[in-house]
Amino acid sequence: MRVLVALTRDISPSMASCELTHLARVPIDVERARAQHREYEQALTEAGCRIERLASGLDMPDSVFVEDIAIAFDELAIVTRPGAEPRRVEVPALAQALERHRPLRFIVPPGTLDGGDVLIAGRRVFVGLSTRTNADAVAQMRQMLAPHGYTVCAVTVRGCLHLKSAVTAVADDTLLVNPQWIGKDVLSGFRFVEVDPAEPMAANALRVGDLVIYPDACPRTAERLARHGSTLRLVDASEVAKAEGAVTCCSVIFEANTDHGGHGGRGGTNSRTV
Ligand code: GLY
Repeated sequence: MRVLVALTRDISPSMASCELTHLARVPIDVERARAQHREYEQALTEAGCRIERLASGLDMPDSVFVEDIAIAFDELAIVTRPGAEPRRVEVPALAQALERHRPLRFIVPPGTLDGGDVLIAGRRVFVGLSTRTNADAVAQMRQMLAPHGYTVCAVTVRGCLHLKSAVTAVADDTLLVNPQWIGKDVLSGFRFVEVDPAEPMAANALRVGDLVIYPDACPRTAERLARHGSTLRLVDASEVAKAEGAVTCCSVIFEANTDHGGHGGRGGTNSRTV
């Protein structure tokens, strides 16, 4: 049987010590973050996902942002080498959880890559050149993905942490974009919904099937998305937002085969289904 799996990870007790690039550090309420993460997982479940949640630890304040550590394609999964060195401790558990489901490929030095910089739109893969992701990693991705028919296009982002802070897909043919942070000209062939200018952080939406999981902190852009025809499931993501996280960051979603133990990898995982 084919199921949609959403890999997630616990909020770390040390989340308040997270990496930051563009925001000033403010207190994070870890218990509130945990409650919000449960609501987010509930939204994923409503969208048809089976949740596999990994454990966290004190040494990984950013653990909830699993998207940065691995990117799942139908044919393989790419395990990243995160641009923030302290986050590399998060990698082994994600690799172990994914190896049941996909052949793995690993970004190696001098490449650095955060999954938050990777936007997949059909067979087109856009990779943001950011403070976390470099051109060497883009070249490695191109080699990994070309045999499977994907084109990989490097794009420059400015003013934000990741490419997916600036643009995400809300339909097969439609991108939600903050034009202050990325040029629409590099994203040819799509229709666009622009964020409301009063909501610069509003370009991160998580599309799962027919549902778009979206932060309730961006009501003006939510209105634009609703007018466009998106079916929104609003969530409160205020605590992860303080850590420069958003809704795409907190899961890795992929189709999996539950009948035969996945693709035939070594098996074994430290995740638990919730
Ligand atoms: N706090 C998210 C990151 O910087 O990776």
